Amino acid sequence: MIQTLEWTEHGVRFIDQTKLPTEETYVTCTTYQEVADVIRNMVVRGAPALGVAAGMGIALGVQNSKAESAGDLKRELDQICDVIGKTRPTAVNLFWAIRRMQQKFEILRVRPVEQIKQALVEEAKRMHAEDIAANQAMGSHGAALMPASGGVLTHCNAGALATAGYGTALGVIRAAVEQGKKIHVYADETRPFLQGSRLTAWELVKDGIPTTVISDNMSGAMMRQGKIAAVVVGADRIAANGDVANKIGTYTVAVLAKEHGIPFYVAAPISTVDLETPDGSKIPIEQRNPAEVTTIAGKVMTPEGVQIENPAFDVTPAKLVTAIVTERGIARAPYEKSLADLVRDFANVNSC
Ligand code: MRU
Repeated sequence: MIQTLEWTEHGVRFIDQTKLPTEETYVTCTTYQEVADVIRNMVVRGAPALGVAAGMGIALGVQNSKAESAGDLKRELDQICDVIGKTRPTAVNLFWAIRRMQQKFEILRVRPVEQIKQALVEEAKRMHAEDIAANQAMGSHGAALMPASGGVLTHCNAGALATAGYGTALGVIRAAVEQGKKIHVYADETRPFLQGSRLTAWELVKDGIPTTVISDNMSGAMMRQGKIAAVVVGADRIAANGDVANKIGTYTVAVLAKEHGIPFYVAAPISTVDLETPDGSKIPIEQRNPAEVTTIAGKVMTPEGVQIENPAFDVTPAKLVTAIVTERGIARAPYEKSLADLVRDFANVNSC
């Protein structure tokens, strides 16, 4: 399995996603500030991977601390969480991980400092293992939704590289292929950062899953020609009403799918569901550097003086989403109820 990120004795090791598909290189972070940098610079990206990276960054910061009391360690923990929390605003998994590490600290604070540090490292490693298990569970729930044969369109990269392993949307595709379904993946290239053509195509080709890359403006034509039987994408944040924030361009695909009567599925772990955000209009959308739009592979593509927009995500309204696949099962409209039920089950299981 592709090792997107892992805890090692030398630090947290990431595959450098800015270099793929031409170079497979790794970056090892030894401080939490370095982890914050690799999150900001997209060496690691994808909502669930950002959650695990945040957890491991916090664990690294705490492990490096010279604090001698739980009170001092808590002050450092707050500072570390503040830095990591300011890296990328949309993927709620990052904030879910910060909250989980802080809650773990509160449970542990009566213990000796060295024990607290070790337990926080273990918690981050647990997040990593749980994420892979969640993706495999999502795969087994979602595979039934995939056609026995035919084209499945995906946008951005919601694969092994966007998670601790296996993937959410690509996990559903992988599981369907493992069951013998004859799926041909259509991967939107996903301008401006090209997660589809660089990352999704890279990992699917590695797995031997037939894949065709299309530029983003081709998906409507592919649907009209009958090449797409279903769409499956990931999510960065799902509001309580089922509105889905995902990579910019997802909304366009959902509208096109509706027009062509094609099911539009979202696969995401429960940690991506944010019941505190009532609807998509309240989801913070990250604005990224205009240079991502004005240049391709370092070559300038726009005249000087032109204005640029670069929102990293858009919101697909719940009414366009056929179903949301989670590790706890499949949610369907009305999402206010189905998502709340799944989250409640999740909380109960975790408190056992
Ligand atoms: O900007 P990115 O590459 O972090 O955006 C990633 C996406 O939009 C993914 O589709 C989403 O995080 C789901 S990943 C399983």
